[in-house]
Amino acid sequence: MKLVVLGACGGIGQTLSLLLRTNALIDELVLYDVVDPAGVATDLSHIPTRQQVRHFCPLSKTDDSQLRTALQGANIVVIPAGIPRKPGMSRDDLFNINASIVQQLVRVYGEVCPEAFLAIISNPVNSTVPIAAEQLRSQSCYHPEKVFGITTLDTLRLEQFLGELTGAWDLRGQVYTVGGHSGETIMPVLGNWRRRLSSEQIENLVHRVRYAGDEVVQAKQGKGSATLSMAAAANRFLCGILRATCKGETVDEVAFVNVSRLKTDDCFVREMMHKVEFFGVPIRIGPEGVAKVGSLGSLSTDEKDAILRSVPTLCAQIAKGARFVKESK
Ligand code: NAI
Repeated sequence: MKLVVLGACGGIGQTLSLLLRTNALIDELVLYDVVDPAGVATDLSHIPTRQQVRHFCPLSKTDDSQLRTALQGANIVVIPAGIPRKPGMSRDDLFNINASIVQQLVRVYGEVCPEAFLAIISNPVNSTVPIAAEQLRSQSCYHPEKVFGITTLDTLRLEQFLGELTGAWDLRGQVYTVGGHSGETIMPVLGNWRRRLSSEQIENLVHRVRYAGDEVVQAKQGKGSATLSMAAAANRFLCGILRATCKGETVDEVAFVNVSRLKTDDCFVREMMHKVEFFGVPIRIGPEGVAKVGSLGSLSTDEKDAILRSVPTLCAQIAKGARFVKESK
């Protein structure tokens, strides 16, 4: 099992690589970054595991030979490459720089290992996943069931903040977020916990989850956005993918995926599939990728309304990503 981290020297990349270093399901961990990852790789290689760590960086600004070698034979590729937010910036403000980075990395992924699972962290996720899709479509190698935007951090935050409110921990699987990964497009789904909270508590909780990224950006005072919690979130998601690919298990995760051709028994999800091409939903993942979309359970009217209200924003961010690739051709 070969897992490649593209953007491995960053705040997320380094912490995520540390967490992955001790995962017994990975045989080869490959670190790639435009900043030479030799130091990070050597450091990690002193942690005793049977895993092999390799590292690559481009030889020049236009060189992609090292990226090709890094990706050769990859089973899973994760992309945390790109600039993070500073105070006052929205995720959409990152678009101009991160769109090109993601497109360039995905183009080579499409040429070298389009069968590998591709998990995108780089923001704005609502646009970078459509960028990846459009780029791969143009190369005739798009496998929608294997391309994911990681939104797990929103769910981690929901679990934590709900735990703080109720004293209940280990909420994994009981609550999660759906929709997109920015502001109003993030929709916490509270399930049975909704009945235990007042409307004011729910309103505050939803707002806190949606804008929790800003808490970190402000506290870091210009030195970046969430890295440690994001690495933990990505690690949780990738552990699921690893179990599906290595052990043939079916795992339940939540991710921002192309929902247009997926199967579901949930009427509301089916309604959403006609309105948006990409959506964050609970998914069942098997060895070949997303097998089906899970049920959202019984949503409250407020939850349904909030999801429907966010559709125009989400559609605009998705269209912006697809347009970027079409105009770059
Ligand atoms: P960072 O600036 O610490 O690291 C980014 C890394 O990407 C750097 O090492 C940089 O050299 C590398 N890089 C830039 N261009 C590259 C290229 N063409 N090829 C390979 N590597 C390249 O940033 P950080 O904090 O690690 O954040 C990374 C991204 O993750 C940002 O876009 C951020 O907004 C996003 N993010 C996403 C979250 C999510 O929930 N999906 C949560 C938090 C951050």
